[in-house]
Amino acid sequence: MTSEPHSPTGPSPTVTDDALPGPPPGCPAHGTGPGGLNRLHEAEDLKELYERLRAEHGPVAPALLHDDVPVWVVLGHTESQQMVRTPGQYCRDSRIWTPLKEGLVKPDHPLMPHIAWQPMCSHAEGDEHKRLRGAIDAAVSTVDFRGLRRHINRSTQRIVNRFCELGEADLVAQYSEHLPMAVMCHVLGMPDEYDDRLVEAARDMLKGTETAIASNAYIMEALGRLTARCRAEPANDFASHLVNHPAELTDEEVREQLRVVLIGAYEATANLLANVLRQVLIDPRFRAQLNGGQMTVPEAVEQLLWDEPPFSTIFAYFAKQETELGGRRIRKGDGLLFAPLPANVDPRIRPDPTADMQGNRSHLAFGGGPHECPGQDIGRAIAEVGVDALLMRLPDVELDIPEDELRYTESIASRHLVALPVRFTPRPPQDVMQRPSHHNDTPPQQDWHIGAGRPETAPEPASAQPAAHLAPPPPQPVPVPPPAAVTDPGPPRNAWQRLLRWWRGY
Ligand code: HEM
Repeated sequence: MTSEPHSPTGPSPTVTDDALPGPPPGCPAHGTGPGGLNRLHEAEDLKELYERLRAEHGPVAPALLHDDVPVWVVLGHTESQQMVRTPGQYCRDSRIWTPLKEGLVKPDHPLMPHIAWQPMCSHAEGDEHKRLRGAIDAAVSTVDFRGLRRHINRSTQRIVNRFCELGEADLVAQYSEHLPMAVMCHVLGMPDEYDDRLVEAARDMLKGTETAIASNAYIMEALGRLTARCRAEPANDFASHLVNHPAELTDEEVREQLRVVLIGAYEATANLLANVLRQVLIDPRFRAQLNGGQMTVPEAVEQLLWDEPPFSTIFAYFAKQETELGGRRIRKGDGLLFAPLPANVDPRIRPDPTADMQGNRSHLAFGGGPHECPGQDIGRAIAEVGVDALLMRLPDVELDIPEDELRYTESIASRHLVALPVRFTPRPPQDVMQRPSHHNDTPPQQDWHIGAGRPETAPEPASAQPAAHLAPPPPQPVPVPPPAAVTDPGPPRNAWQRLLRWWRGY
């Protein structure tokens, strides 16, 4: 065990350099606090800061949160796994966090919504975690995934019907932020609660605006109505299974778990969906690989889970005892940020950060250990069908602004695309029960061309490559015929194709 000169709980929290003149803009000292430690919340580019911290300190680095509260950032893939998979040494119960116990973290600390202990499975440990998590796992296990995919497809059709005649849309506000809410309301058992107001409330709550508390109350009221309905008339939905689980959750416990599920699922899945769509729109190679069948939609989703995990960091894990991680001495009561964003690009497991991960699922976007996300297959299904079905409806969709005008909001916890303006050929609304067709009604572009050049013979659009219908990217100078992949493949030709249609549910 290496001795650690500056444990996050080490330097006196009251010593600040506020009185000193600040460093000039662009100076590397910008955004540093006591002991020269970096203030994460002041970083202009967190990704770049994490790489700097990795180079300076190795896989576990000391840093500062708001009010110069010390924290460790776990940057290594192996060290992150070690932390999340060792519940005997690290837990998610903030009540043991030294800066909180010593009053350094004030009640109005900006991270308080993440920090304050709540009776939900994310903060629970040991037997209590097993009890709450057991009920959630049992409810997830009742989800019929084929029916779910069919429902996601119908929700996609409904949402696209709202803007398909206009020829333009913002795929963040009008699509990615709606589809996960529509689907999660259906999964939980409250399809009638899904509307613009609920989406607005969830968005408002996550942005932490002045009306965030009222928005939280609005969502909790909806979840309260759902809990009461499930007690009175249980049905075959997620909330009823939670209510009737042998763990005998109280009404408050049911509402809290439903809130974690609804809001966590909404935020992460909306983020993932927007990121995959953006990548398809801005990266001709990415789109070409989908078009040509070298990459499937599930592989595209997995690639984005590596490159841009929807939660960049999870606040937080806490050391239950004195221990060692990545060569650092961690004191009992220290806080550690679990950070999938830098861990996923740890050069020791991914020497080339631009490499195609080919569907590999060993990223940390869903966490790991006892708290690993129980809803990951639901999140994957929403993103996969959401991308596939949208591109089937609008095969010629294109970004409507230059790529460098795309804007993001970034916090320590996550990075969000603000808007994704697109244009496409206006189309009439479609019957939501209709199975999406591979038929492409846009005029063929005779000058279709991709990236470094199209393969001489376009690969057969194998039915295991569900995005083979995707539209060609914007015109490029070299004239070649349109890809064969955009034609209607007709009825399923073989047993595999029939199985695939059955499996996808549409
Ligand atoms: C792309 C979508 C999603 C992503 C990226 C994601 C990611 C995560 C992450 C990183 C954690 C924390 C793991 C840890 O602490 O080590 C988590 C926990 C959790 N997620 Fe997800 N999630 C997604 C979708 C969902 C969905 C659809 C559900 C609905 C069932 C869900 C329910 C939960 C719950 C209940 C927890 C807390 C588990 C526990 O503490 O035991 N998530 N998720």
